[in-house]
Amino acid sequence: MLRCLAGEISARPPLWLMRQAGRYLPEYRAVRGQVASFLDLCYTPDLAVEVTLQPIRRYALDAAIIFSDILVVPDALGQAVAFREGEGPVLKPIRSVADVARLRPESIHDTLAPVYETVRRLSLALPSEVALIGFAGAPWTVATYMVEGGTSRGFQNVQLWAYRDPAGFARLIDCLVEATIAHLSAQVAAGAEIIQLFDSWAGVLPEPGFKRWVVEPTRRIVDALRQQNPALPIIGFPRGAGLFYSDYFAETKVTAIGLDTTVPLGIARDQLQKIGPIQGNLDPLLVVAGGAAMAAAARQIVAAFSRRPFIFNLGHGIVPETPPEHVEQLVAVVRNG
Ligand code: CP3
Repeated sequence: MLRCLAGEISARPPLWLMRQAGRYLPEYRAVRGQVASFLDLCYTPDLAVEVTLQPIRRYALDAAIIFSDILVVPDALGQAVAFREGEGPVLKPIRSVADVARLRPESIHDTLAPVYETVRRLSLALPSEVALIGFAGAPWTVATYMVEGGTSRGFQNVQLWAYRDPAGFARLIDCLVEATIAHLSAQVAAGAEIIQLFDSWAGVLPEPGFKRWVVEPTRRIVDALRQQNPALPIIGFPRGAGLFYSDYFAETKVTAIGLDTTVPLGIARDQLQKIGPIQGNLDPLLVVAGGAAMAAAARQIVAAFSRRPFIFNLGHGIVPETPPEHVEQLVAVVRNG
């Protein structure tokens, strides 16, 4: 995985899967049952280390991603986050500059210290050939949850704030840029070898907003992390970026980009892979389906991308309905052809 991100091409692509730890695994559900809330799992190093390692024990994966969530950052900033069964995350919405002024970027490490302890323990526990990925949500995506108060359909509150009062909204984004740099630097100091930035809702913005709220903040985070660690590999995942993917790749200077399921293989190979390594992009629902359809699609992706640096992954996270045996079949197809 690290050699691929440094530009090397290998006989088979390195492989990991977004949400490789989670509810589709019975052993995850057993650990989850030991704590009252999902965030308790994220903040208990013993348990977070255990669930991070679960998919590594089962499958021949090339990387582990620390078990945490993108919403620990708003939680640590002082905007309490609750995860309700079947409802997803719930936050008390932030909608004004006065709300932003109440956030506490200088003390996020008080809440997030257990996350860094998890990273430290994982970097000791993992075999040297399995890379350790740290992550954060990108500012725009985290802001959508903070302003909408949870997962949104229409993104009206956050977009209207950005249109009506861009300078005020920029305060929230600036606060998130600072908090994200601090959170990622601490993960790297604790032993994370690769960083992924999840911008799951990058695809809802028109061009000017995409440049200002997705590209700019990401570039600032990449610059700051590289100032501290010039060789740090950073994967950007601007899900849904469509025709903006190549600008995002070139302008943010991320090391590699994660492709969502909709990016056509030919365009990714001919346009994006010329800029740098790419990661993706099997449809997670094909892993629910399994069998010949999944295997054929996986082989098609490997065949399209294997002439330049490429990391096999899904185009979005594994869904809870996924049979674990299908993941095993997928790993075998990618490793053995
Ligand atoms: O293996 C891994 O990837 C584990 C770490 C991880 C989680 N969330 C664990 C999790 C990562 C990298 C994330 C990222 C994340 N979290 C994103 C970006 C990727 C994406 O999916 O677009 C986003 C948008 C979130 C926010 C979030 N967290 C939502 C909307 C939800 C509720 C919906 C859902 O899928 O349950 C979560 C909860 C969450 N995060 C769970 C897990 C395993 C399930 C909660 C539980 O087990 O009770």
